[in-house]
Amino acid sequence: MAYIIGMVSQKGGVGKSTLARMMAREFVAGGMSAKIADLDTQQQTCTYWAGRRAESGVAPEVQVQSFATVKSAIEDSARFDAYILDGKPNASEQTYEIARASDLVVIPTGQTVDDLHPGVVLAHSLVKKGLPTHRIAFAMFKITGSDRENAAARSYLEQAGYPVLPGDVPVSTAYGSASDIGKAITETPFKSLNQRAAMLAQNVIDAMAERAA
Ligand SMILES: Nc1ncnc2c1ncn2[C@@H]1O[C@H](COP(=O)(O)OP(=O)(O)OP(=O)(O)O)[C@@H](O)[C@H]1O
Ligand SMILES: [Mg+2]
Repeated sequence: MAYIIGMVSQKGGVGKSTLARMMAREFVAGGMSAKIADLDTQQQTCTYWAGRRAESGVAPEVQVQSFATVKSAIEDSARFDAYILDGKPNASEQTYEIARASDLVVIPTGQTVDDLHPGVVLAHSLVKKGLPTHRIAFAMFKITGSDRENAAARSYLEQAGYPVLPGDVPVSTAYGSASDIGKAITETPFKSLNQRAAMLAQNVIDAMAERAA
């Protein structure tokens, strides 16, 4: 049985696909089998990224497949240790289907209220639909603020009743450039950036293992 991680958001562009690619890469590099189900049928961000990765000969290989429905994606999941669902930009019926299918639902968010508020609205609506709060985790992603601003963002989410993963990933052109050439954000030329991203990935894995236990 695969551990299933769902990447969802209310707002587009928060980092779902970037997180999905990092997680898949980290699982595979750690000796586990993993696959991304790319459910963003319009943009197919992860699918195209896997193409760039293969063309550039980046190892290890990361499997990505496009699926039209969560149901068909899940049918394929049992063969893998970890299975990552990458959702469409905005919240839709698909978001709820992803949430229901996942052991852990990750909502990436920046540290401004403009980003935090829609994330909390989405989390509330997932809970209202019956998802247990502990299956949700926020990930601080593409952050630009000071330590004080980031601490305030964490406390905003915690006060709303949701777990926030330890660690964060700042905005960096090196992360964007890595994605451009088919690399994950743990594969930039910069060790400190890779380590920072890897730490968040490890915290996702720890949270997933805890939830699935
Ligand atoms: N830490 C970062 N620093 C700089 N750029 C980043 C970072 N993370 C992601 N990006 C860039 O931000 C953009 C949006 O990221 P991504 O595609 O992962 O978000 P998404 O939530 O999947 O978007 P969508 O809602 O459109 O599916 C991409 O161009 C990506 O390369
Ligand atoms: Mg995406």
